[in-house]
Amino acid sequence: MTPESADSAARTAGYLAELPDILGGDKRFIDILGRLTAMSERDYYDPYKLFEWPSSLSEDGYWMSPELMTVYGTEAGAALTDEQLRALSKWESINFYSLNVHGIRELLTQIVGRIHMPGYEVASEYFHHIIGEENDHMWFFAKFCLTYAGKLYPDRRMPFAAPGIPEADTFLLFARLLIFEELVDVFNQKMGDDERLDPTIRKINKVHHQDESRHIAFGRQIVALLHADLRRRLVPEQLAQLEAYVKRYMRASAESLCSPAAFRDAGLPEPYALRRAVLADPAFDAFAHRTLKRSLTFMTSEDIFSNGRIPPL
Ligand SMILES: [Fe+2]
Ligand SMILES: [Fe+2]
Repeated sequence: MTPESADSAARTAGYLAELPDILGGDKRFIDILGRLTAMSERDYYDPYKLFEWPSSLSEDGYWMSPELMTVYGTEAGAALTDEQLRALSKWESINFYSLNVHGIRELLTQIVGRIHMPGYEVASEYFHHIIGEENDHMWFFAKFCLTYAGKLYPDRRMPFAAPGIPEADTFLLFARLLIFEELVDVFNQKMGDDERLDPTIRKINKVHHQDESRHIAFGRQIVALLHADLRRRLVPEQLAQLEAYVKRYMRASAESLCSPAAFRDAGLPEPYALRRAVLADPAFDAFAHRTLKRSLTFMTSEDIFSNGRIPPL
């Protein structure tokens, strides 16, 4: 072990030894966990009996709200015919649900790795509910893709280097999970009530939104709590590094919704060039800020971010 990695391991261990006090010492956090657990018990449902799964969905209508498509408002999007846009709405929605499946797998892996581990005592009961609910979500999103598109898109998200501040790893993990869930929820909320969409599409989005409102409430609490503690431990330069890292993650999450594979499956020519054109369009920057607005407002109001702008990658 190098001196640097020994120092990093010691700082990680020191931080984890204090985690029981950071999480367990906050009465409000414990109260909220109790309330969320009671709500999960009250709203428990059997996903295997909840959905109907017709054998096919009409290819004529939109599968995703047009305003949530990555080409919305862009020059490249304006050049597409209505038929092309409708085909793309199907494949962008399959990309969106595939991203959900991969994001949930990461979330589950991380939560399973922490449940009943030292430091997480106060959250264990609620973690059981998150794990159960997320397993259901992963199942119905994957089922949708496999039934109506015959596939899931593979996970192409690229991990980027973390800032190398061992005390901040736990905060960064829960910040990433929260941002993922809030971004997805913006889509779920809109598509769950969008009368232009097939009832099966509306329902998976609506059901997911109902569960996620609890997860997001949990995520916001733990992220705010962990960052408030970090503000006492870290210097301003390190806090700025965390802000830059989380913003890069946000921008990358928005960009992952714009998929060359979805363009190709929709029959659009030159899918990689099209993706570059969409990402460079000012309308996409507006799309990223619009879909991430809730997270940006939250991060800024909790002093996690100094401003609500997410720069391009
Ligand atoms: Fe979920
Ligand atoms: Fe969730």
